[in-house]
Amino acid sequence: EQARQIQQTMAEFRLSKAQLLEVKKRMRVEIERGLKEDTHKEATVKMLPTFVRSTPDGTENGDFLALDLGGTNFRVLLVKIRSGKRRTVEMHNKIYAIPIEVMQGTGEELFDHIVYCISDFLDYMGMKSARLPLGFTFSFPCHQTSLDAGILVTWTKGFKATDCEGEDVVELLRDAIKRKEEFELDVVAIVNDTVGTMMTCAYEEPTCEVGLIAGTGSNACYMEEAKNIEIVEGNEGRMCVNMEWGAFGDNGCLDDIRTKYDQAVDENSLNEGKQRYEKMCSGMYLGEIVRQILIDLTKRGYLFRGQISETLKTRGIFETKFLSQIESDRLALLQVRAILQQLGLDSTCDDSIIVKEVCGTVSRRAAQICGAGMAAVVDKIRENRGLDHLDITVGVDGTLYKLHPHFSRIFQQTVKELAPKCDVNFLLSEDGSGKGAALITAVGCRQRELEA
Ligand code: BG6
Ligand code: GLC
Repeated sequence: EQARQIQQTMAEFRLSKAQLLEVKKRMRVEIERGLKEDTHKEATVKMLPTFVRSTPDGTENGDFLALDLGGTNFRVLLVKIRSGKRRTVEMHNKIYAIPIEVMQGTGEELFDHIVYCISDFLDYMGMKSARLPLGFTFSFPCHQTSLDAGILVTWTKGFKATDCEGEDVVELLRDAIKRKEEFELDVVAIVNDTVGTMMTCAYEEPTCEVGLIAGTGSNACYMEEAKNIEIVEGNEGRMCVNMEWGAFGDNGCLDDIRTKYDQAVDENSLNEGKQRYEKMCSGMYLGEIVRQILIDLTKRGYLFRGQISETLKTRGIFETKFLSQIESDRLALLQVRAILQQLGLDSTCDDSIIVKEVCGTVSRRAAQICGAGMAAVVDKIRENRGLDHLDITVGVDGTLYKLHPHFSRIFQQTVKELAPKCDVNFLLSEDGSGKGAALITAVGCRQRELEA
C-alpha cells in the first residue's frame, strides 16, 4: 500500500509523449504572442529583441572587459580577441562573491559592489587607466532599444535588489562607476547569458544560431527573422531574440501539468506566480520540488520514520550538485545515505531508495519539458526557412546541463522525438558567456565607428 501511494505521487510527474507534444504546441503559441505587435504587451514569453544582428564572422578584434552577473558565479573578465589567419581568444577572469544581503539589498549597494569588484580586478591586472570597452552579461529579462540600453523588466532567480526594475541597468552601472571616481569604462553592450553562450559557440561553429541555459535559471535565445519581430523596425535579415521562456506558464497555460508541489515551490519563492516553467525545470528549483515531495511523504509517514527534521524544513538545501550526486549511477545506496547524512537527514536504506527515485522523477520531467520547449524553437526556425529538414547547432551552458548525470541525455532525446524534422547538434560552451559578451562588444564598437 505504501509503495502504491508513493508511486501515485510520482505518477503526477510522469508525462506522456502526447502531453509533451502539447507543451511544445503551447510554447509555440506563446512564441507567436511575444513576437506580434498587438499581443506582445501581455505575452508571458516576452521574446525580447537583443539588437544582435549576426553571429561572429571572425574579424572581431581588440581588448575588452566583460562582466557576468546572474548565474552561480559573478565574474569580471578581460578578453583579448585577435582576428586574422590565426584567430585567438585569451581570457583572464576572477570570480567574486555576491553576498545574499547585496543581492536582495538596494540597487545602489548592488551596483557599488559590482564596481568595487571591477576596481579590484583592474588593480589585479594593472589596467586601471585603460578605459576599456565593456560588455555586460546580465542574465535577467531586459527591454532593449539598442545594444547598450536595457530596462530591467523584473528580477528573477535569487535577486531582488530595490530600485532596479524599470531602470536601465547600463545607466545604473555607469552611475556607479562615476560615483567611484577611480576609473573610466565604455559600456558598449548589455547581453543576456543565452545570447553570450550562442555567440561563444558560434565563434567556433557558424551553424550555431540558438543558445540555451539550463542552470540556476532556464532560458533560450535564437536568430529570428527580422520581419517576424514586429516591435522592431526593419524587415531585413535576422536578429537574436532573448525568449525569456522561464515565464512560460505564467498565464496558467501549464496548470494541467503543474502539481501541488510545484505550487508550493512557487508560493515559497521570491517571485510568486512568476517564472512557472523555470520553476519546473531549472537548477535553483528542482531541489525545492524534491524537498516539497519529501516533506509530504514524511507527513504521510512513508519516509524518515514520519519525522520532519529541521533540515527538511530548510529552503535550498538540495542544490543541483547534491541532486547530481544522488542520481549518479556509480553511487551505491550506502553513499546516497551518506550524502543525506551530510545534509543532516537520517535515512534508512528504504528511505534512500525512495529519495533517489524522487530525484530521478523530478529531474526527468525537467529535462523533458525543457526539451519540449527546445523542440518548439527548432521547428519554428525550420518553418521560418521553409525547410522540410533543418540542421542546426545549439550552444549550451549551465550547471544543471553540465553537472547532472542524466539531464542532458533525456533533454536531447526529447528534442529528437518531438522535432523529428530537425537534426540538432548540441555544443557545450567552454568558458561561459563572457567571451560572447566580448564578441558582441567588438561588433558594437565597429558599428559605432562606421556610424561616426
Ligand atoms: C555561465 C555563464 O557559463 O553559465 C553565466 O557565463 C550563466 O552567465 C551561467 O548565467 C548559467 O549557469 P548557472 O548554472 O551558473 O546558472
Ligand atoms: C532567468 C533569467 C534569464 C536567464 C536565465 C538563465 O530565467 O530571467 O534572463 O537567461 O535565468 O540564467
